[in-house]
Amino acid sequence: MTTSPQPLYYARHIFFCLNQRENGEDCCANHHAKEGFDRCKAQVKAAGLAGPGQVRVNKAGCLDRCAGGPVAVVYPEAVWYTFVDANDIDEIVESHLKNGEVVERLLLSPDVGR
Ligand code: FES
Repeated sequence: MTTSPQPLYYARHIFFCLNQRENGEDCCANHHAKEGFDRCKAQVKAAGLAGPGQVRVNKAGCLDRCAGGPVAVVYPEAVWYTFVDANDIDEIVESHLKNGEVVERLLLSPDVGR
């Protein structure tokens, strides 16, 4: 028996690693991940992109690519980003989350892991 794919509840979903390590090891929370998450959430809302059928911005725990932190990943394209400041977040929102255009300059290198 085959099943038809369900329509996407969200057109795009972005997850931000906000992991904070207590043992002194480096983590995304040490690199302003929360500021990036907050900025993204606010910009998506301000652009009228939030909600079913559109974009969802979510917190995540460690995504196991800590060496590139802070990191975020966009689905369904499975595109990984690293970012530095509000300008980077604004570009991800405008280009990728709104228009579906990947922001090449912020892509996380494929060999970056933990
Ligand atoms: S601490 Fe962010 S990916 Fe691991």
